Amino acid sequence: MSFLTIDQDRCKRDGICVAECPLGLIEIKGEDAFPSPIGPAQELCITCGHCVAVCPHGALSLTSMKSDNCAPFRNNMLPGPEQLELYLKSRRSIRVYKDKPVPRAELTQVIDWAGYAPSGHNAQPVHWLVIEDTAEVRRLTQMVADWMDFMLKDNPAMAKAYHMDLVKMAWERGQDRILRGAPHLIIAHAPKDYPPALPACTIAVTYLELAAYALGLGACWAGYFNAAATFFPPLISALDLPAGHGSFGSMMIGYPKFTYHRIPFRNTPRIMWR
Ligand SMILES: Cc1cc2nc3c(=O)[nH]c(=O)nc-3n(C[C@H](O)[C@H](O)[C@H](O)COP(=O)(O)O)c2cc1C
Repeated sequence: MSFLTIDQDRCKRDGICVAECPLGLIEIKGEDAFPSPIGPAQELCITCGHCVAVCPHGALSLTSMKSDNCAPFRNNMLPGPEQLELYLKSRRSIRVYKDKPVPRAELTQVIDWAGYAPSGHNAQPVHWLVIEDTAEVRRLTQMVADWMDFMLKDNPAMAKAYHMDLVKMAWERGQDRILRGAPHLIIAHAPKDYPPALPACTIAVTYLELAAYALGLGACWAGYFNAAATFFPPLISALDLPAGHGSFGSMMIGYPKFTYHRIPFRNTPRIMWR
């Protein structure tokens, strides 16, 4: 049986799947023919599911993606542009959290949504490490503070350029400007030797932040943490990622303590038109 199947009772032979396949792997061989995969289609298919998603008749399925199992969707189910504009512009990095853990089901849900981020060739290289245990988040924060100590001695100009002196002093006063007292930390990791790992993780973590906001959670990129997780051997060992993997994006997550009432300005876009 082919990895691509056509329900001949539903198919209208409109050629939409042929036009849509990003790799040109589907053809209709004659006037009375139904769509079929071209020769090497199975090896080349990236399982992006566009052929399944675009068919208005639910006629096309892949072995791993039956049309009837894919959630139905219509454009009129989407929020309008005004709502989306407000949603995108009102998202904020959350740095003050309630002292309340997030149930695992909610953390799983934001990660599930983040899985819909685009990735080159639909390779979906992102893996997730969730530091669910708040005490462990605090232990790892101490390791980032240790890394800052090391950096302030080893490369003071760079460390000061990133305000590590101030962040470290705050940490010693009991103020956490590293992970902001967040109850949880989510780390996107992927094989270090896979060049598209960085953009894939960056985009997935961006989706994660947007998903968190939509679900009433708050999140913030953990830039200091991720740098330490990339360069500081004790933290790299503590994370114990799969062999060959690196951390490409980390996010604090919890329930936001405050809400926002205004949208701050951003720079006017710098655009060149040609
Ligand atoms: C890659 C990256 C790393 C960041 N690292 C940190 C961080 O370590 N700590 C922090 O408080 N905010 C961090 N931020 C959040 C930015 O400061 C924030 O996005 C920016 O000030 C704009 O605010 P907004 O996200 O609320 O619009 C980071 C953002 C990005 C994109």
